[in-house]
Amino acid sequence: MNQYITDNKDRFINELLDMLRIPSVSADPKFKQDVLRTADFVALKLREAGADKVELCETGGYPIVYGEKVVDPSLPTVLVYGHYDVQPADPYELWHSPPFEPVIKDGKIYARGACDDKGQMYMHVKAFEVMMQNNALACNVKFMIEGEEEVGSANLATFVKNNKEKLAADVILISDTGMLGNDTPSITTGLRGMSYVEVEVTGPNRDLHSGLYGGAVANPINILCQMIASMHDENNHITIPGFYDNVEELSQEERAEMARAPFSLDKYKQALDLPDVHGEEGYTTMERNSIRPTLDVNGIWGGYTGEGAKTVIPSQAFAKISMRLVPNQTSEEITEKFKKHFESIAPKSVKVIVRPHHGGEPVVTPTDSVAYQAAARAYEETFGVKPVPVRSGGSIPIVAMFKSELGLDSVLMGFGLDTDAIHSPNEHFGVFNFMKGIETIPQFYKYYAEMSK
Ligand code: BES
Ligand code: MN
Ligand code: MN
Repeated sequence: MNQYITDNKDRFINELLDMLRIPSVSADPKFKQDVLRTADFVALKLREAGADKVELCETGGYPIVYGEKVVDPSLPTVLVYGHYDVQPADPYELWHSPPFEPVIKDGKIYARGACDDKGQMYMHVKAFEVMMQNNALACNVKFMIEGEEEVGSANLATFVKNNKEKLAADVILISDTGMLGNDTPSITTGLRGMSYVEVEVTGPNRDLHSGLYGGAVANPINILCQMIASMHDENNHITIPGFYDNVEELSQEERAEMARAPFSLDKYKQALDLPDVHGEEGYTTMERNSIRPTLDVNGIWGGYTGEGAKTVIPSQAFAKISMRLVPNQTSEEITEKFKKHFESIAPKSVKVIVRPHHGGEPVVTPTDSVAYQAAARAYEETFGVKPVPVRSGGSIPIVAMFKSELGLDSVLMGFGLDTDAIHSPNEHFGVFNFMKGIETIPQFYKYYAEMSK
């Protein structure tokens, strides 16, 4: 198999670059035709690699690409999930090369989606080709590649609920997360959930002269800032009543185990040019970004932001706020608590509206399962060291649904790095990581089949 991978390396990379040239931004309707073309591309490549029953499953939004290879019904079935849509590339001016004209520089592929998730998803398509060409496919496999992950997977949720039989499998395999480092492989064992809201604060019914009215009426931006600021206390705890009610506290043993994962605070600060880190009192940086819930403003606007000065009290102010959730918080519960609290702290001088967006539930995956153990052996084989389990702070809302609707655990075999700048300008993915993924995935199939016997 490794010979085949080496012989076809350049072609594998070039195919990925071809896919990266298609700007499949699901959030922006302007790219609709490109998102659809990307679905066609994935379907074609699955077919070429040897998948049967390849189809575009129509949804209320972008199609889900499905394909399968059943080698023997008595073998275990792996359901591979990934996404072909990408985040918007803005701000374009901060990219060193255009986001949809991929380039390889210093061993890294630069393009929007290089890591999240086209590069990682494509490792599975190529690993499948490798196994097919070498008569080494040890499990049945089903592919389910969606085009709406970056906008909340609403249609995939419906698809999963309506296609339980089609999707019947023994485990879900996903590469849409990261690992600690190229010499410290890790397997993601948890993802945070999400509650996302948009808020609107309205003061006067029109923008006002800030001299004639300033001081006498509420300025919605001032008020919104006060309200947002009040939602963290001096210890950076979130002040929404009941916010922590259901938060699972880890035992001292579990926290000590977590602290064994290699991490350098100095390097962390250096990489981000941070004078210091910031977060909830009583928790380490690694804990703050994985096992603790958060509340963050993602965007805030209102008033005059153009050239020069305009003296105005704006009529309205807005913010987008996300809360990352941990077991056993639920997005519904937290959205409700946020809404009630936000409305209750609004002074009488303004009106507020809270609009909930998408949500998602947190997950923790088992480490004592056959699938996890098989993944660990696969990494050990290709990296030469045992991978460490790490809970991630990111969210893939559909993973919790796979468990609740299909009863399936997921194995999160990510090959990205935190420094890959996903969702940021200059997103990239190491050629090393792409190739390591293609090498490691077949090992998972091999061990999973062997250990399932
Ligand atoms: N692949 C990411 C999630 C991720 C990245 C998890 C790295 C762990 C490590 C995914 O595409 C993503 O961006 N998810 C969104 C959530 C979604 C509801 C928009 C997120 O985490 O913000
Ligand atoms: Mn992703
Ligand atoms: Mn993403």
